[in-house]
Amino acid sequence: MKFALFLPLLVVSFETTQADVASTAKKTYEIWAADQSSTVSNQTALGLRGGRLWIWTDDAIQKTISKKTVVPLPCKPKPGVGPCDWFDIFSGALIQQNSTGPTGKTLQDLENVGVWHGIVKDPSNKYVLASLFAKGGGYVGIIDTRTRGAVALFRVTKYSYTEGLSTTSDRSVHMTFWSADGLYCIVANLHGKAIERINIVRNLEGDITSATFDKAASLGLGSGMSVVESATYFTGTNAYGRPLIGGVTGNYDTNGLSDFTPSGKCKENGCALPPGVKGGEGGRTNNRPVCPVPSSQGNLLYITLSGGGLFIGNIITTPMSIVGEYGKNIIFGAGCGGVEVAGKFYINSGVASGPQGGSQSYFAVWAFNNTEYLGTPTYEENEPRPLMVYNDTQNTMETTVNPTGQLPSNSTRRDSHGIVVTRNQKYVHTFDRIQAQAFVIDTSTNKGIFSYSMRDSNVCKAFSVTDDSNIPANDPSPDLVEASPDGKYLAIGFRGPAPVTFAHTTQGSCPGVGIVQLQENGGKGKLVTVLRTTNLTPDNITTPLMIPGGVNYAGTERSDIHMVAVIDHKLW
Ligand SMILES: *[C@@H]1O[C@H](CO)[C@@H](O)[C@H](O)[C@H]1NC(C)=O
Ligand SMILES: *[C@@H]1O[C@H](CO)[C@@H](O)[C@H](O)[C@H]1NC(C)=O
Ligand SMILES: *[C@@H]1O[C@H](CO)[C@@H](O)[C@H](O)[C@H]1NC(C)=O
Ligand SMILES: *[C@@H]1O[C@H](CO)[C@@H](O)[C@H](O)[C@H]1NC(C)=O
Ligand SMILES: *[C@@H]1O[C@H](CO)[C@@H](O)[C@H](O)[C@H]1NC(C)=O
Ligand SMILES: *[C@@H]1O[C@H](CO)[C@@H](O)[C@H](O)[C@H]1NC(C)=O
Repeated sequence: MKFALFLPLLVVSFETTQADVASTAKKTYEIWAADQSSTVSNQTALGLRGGRLWIWTDDAIQKTISKKTVVPLPCKPKPGVGPCDWFDIFSGALIQQNSTGPTGKTLQDLENVGVWHGIVKDPSNKYVLASLFAKGGGYVGIIDTRTRGAVALFRVTKYSYTEGLSTTSDRSVHMTFWSADGLYCIVANLHGKAIERINIVRNLEGDITSATFDKAASLGLGSGMSVVESATYFTGTNAYGRPLIGGVTGNYDTNGLSDFTPSGKCKENGCALPPGVKGGEGGRTNNRPVCPVPSSQGNLLYITLSGGGLFIGNIITTPMSIVGEYGKNIIFGAGCGGVEVAGKFYINSGVASGPQGGSQSYFAVWAFNNTEYLGTPTYEENEPRPLMVYNDTQNTMETTVNPTGQLPSNSTRRDSHGIVVTRNQKYVHTFDRIQAQAFVIDTSTNKGIFSYSMRDSNVCKAFSVTDDSNIPANDPSPDLVEASPDGKYLAIGFRGPAPVTFAHTTQGSCPGVGIVQLQENGGKGKLVTVLRTTNLTPDNITTPLMIPGGVNYAGTERSDIHMVAVIDHKLW
């Protein structure tokens, strides 16, 4: 506080983020973290149902550094302290509805509910999207950040599609994002191989008054696609006794579900019979969408794909459409990170899902130029080429198996994942879950300038699990990341010793939210503390847990933070 008098005088020669520090000095923000460990006991596998929401006010950072106790906030109106259980926010008694009426099922009756994987705030910071991830599941909710009460809940479409001679029927929600105007939610139906859309209506204050799943907007990315079960929504009341909103509208559009891109190539290699034309530059081998990240210009959507390649979509057409397409030799697989800086869109590529991660271990970052995709009714595949900002020379491409596992002692594998831009827009930090490193890119030159290790400070060690001596004591596994509104910190999901997803890549010793303090105007950073999380809900799983390439963990800690949202009160 004592700096408040003279800081504003200094800022004339400083960056705007310094001004932000002064203007927000009296304001607060909250750190919300999604923990994807089960909260229903006696489950026979990791991460089957529920999940926890951890919320701390910003003072938790300094308190934890000073070794003071911090308590997570409860989900109002529940008294006491947090963390909150998914089912405290979305009651198991919620009633599933399709376009003709109740399906006869409640949330608690339904299979494969999954665990809390994605938490993404809207531009107003008044709402978050809460995605539960499980193969066969497909649930996504909206939560009001001011009350922490449920607003709406949906289950996405179950699709059938062909992969060679086999046919699969499936769905899941991996992640859901807001459009830049907050009027659309864009869902990655990963196991359904589709991108889907929820249309949002807001009042003049920006509060959501309606949320409708638009079946006509769905964009299929697979081959031979058809609808097995339509999307649904849920009715009932939230923890305050207020009714949920929601609905489904429209009819699935065969143009949206077609096998082909606008350039006439197979969306996914081997489409149609006889086989259609494969896209150039390797085409696309597995179009499970990982992260569809909207840009602020032209309603563009950057859609990363499990098996590599990328689509650029248009969010607001119905059905949603493709306005750019790339093969897997240009954009590698399993990216989930996209940030926009002054018209440039940075996308990364990470480790492929499943045990094959050992032979697809990448650390690469590209920059696209939004402007190139605006107002172009036709385009050429694989053009314009994005700028390859970084391509780790230690990348092990699909032809080379890298068996070095994920232990800090000997792994040479890479995994570029979380990506964030500093508040002053000068630097992009992209994180590696295996190497526990951040790689920093100068956005004015698109050059990598620095990398720092989450292990250097030894901070994680003090927060590491102690119930299995084989776990490396200082092994943070940094996942998705957000910047604090004052420009000082990055808050990063740290995975746990019993990772629910991508276990071949993500085992970490200190589950929680890692706090990196930025230095030198955001060009460098240092891990300063961990907001440690825990989940000792008893389960019924044979231990030690088999963790590919990691330690077969025999302990009881299940907490596994995947994603963080930093909620700025100033915007409410
Ligand atoms: C635990 O789960 C098993 C298998 O799902 C079930 O048979 C058993 O009844 C459950 N036990 C308790 C105490 O819930
Ligand atoms: C809605 O659910 C009911 C009950 O499962 C089912 O009979 C009906 O076909 C469904 N309608 C649609 C449009 O999916
Ligand atoms: C993006 O493309 C536009 C139009 O081609 C061009 O004018 C602009 O300089 C490009 N921006 C960057 C950052 O390359
Ligand atoms: C990226 O790096 C890998 C491994 O060094 C190399 O095989 C590949 O050709 C590079 N790709 C591009 C587009 O530079
Ligand atoms: C990695 O290190 C572990 C022990 O720390 C060892 O058991 C394993 O064989 C090593 N793997 C390789 C590929 O060197
Ligand atoms: C654990 O699961 C087995 C079957 O998978 C079941 O027989 C047993 O009752 C379960 N244990 C508990 C404590 O629920």
